[in-house]
Amino acid sequence: MHTSPLSPADALRWYIAAGVDEAIGEQPVDRYALSAKPAAKAHAAQGGVPAAPQQPEPASSAHLAMAATNLAELKTAMEAYEGCNLKRTCQQTVFADGDPSARLMIVGEAPGADEDRLGLPFVGASGKLLDRMLASIGLDRTQAYITNVVPWRPPGNRKPEPAEVELCLPFITRHIELVDPAVLLLLGGASVSALLARTDSITRLRGGFIDYSSPRLSRPIPAMPTFHPAYLLRTPLAKRDVWRDLLLVRQKLDSAP
Ligand code: URA
Repeated sequence: MHTSPLSPADALRWYIAAGVDEAIGEQPVDRYALSAKPAAKAHAAQGGVPAAPQQPEPASSAHLAMAATNLAELKTAMEAYEGCNLKRTCQQTVFADGDPSARLMIVGEAPGADEDRLGLPFVGASGKLLDRMLASIGLDRTQAYITNVVPWRPPGNRKPEPAEVELCLPFITRHIELVDPAVLLLLGGASVSALLARTDSITRLRGGFIDYSSPRLSRPIPAMPTFHPAYLLRTPLAKRDVWRDLLLVRQKLDSAP
């Protein structure tokens, strides 16, 4: 079978999408010699040469998130945060879309390639299905607020690692506190396990509301766990379960203060 070769630009794009973030040079690099250098510097410092000033520790995500008093500050803090490796391979921080004063807040897992390119959550194939899910309960994306647990695209669209979710958790916790919605819709197991700290599978958890609480919320928020639209694209039969979950969300929105 004849396949046409990739152009260098296409090959480069492919490597970046797969998470390659470092090129191998023409000349070999002796990494043992490189790692010996800091030790040599420290040794010289003990001999009376003043040690180089220590770099200050980068601010933690918890510290930055807590300091944000509004969504604009939170966005700036997330864009400035350098503690998560995902930031090195993604194109940009995907903060949110929709209306921050909406009563429904939707939280997915992490941006994919389309979201990373456009800087908005749920704009690819899953997003198209999410739009139809919202339409089924009389809403569009301007009447909801949409974000993700992890705001940076994992390379090659892999699942975020637990350590990456952990680093992002203070940001999404603060995000929910600042939006303070009437109802939360949590899409997919990763979002549910991160925010509700429940280990049961999404299949067991979906179908009813679970209270979501955090220290700076005045009251718990009813959260509906449901299947992720990407799962529904692969498993259309599960759409009927999500339909039931969405009807409960509609009822809750209509009755919640
Ligand atoms: N999947 C998600 O969980 N979030 C997005 O923004 C896109 C796809």
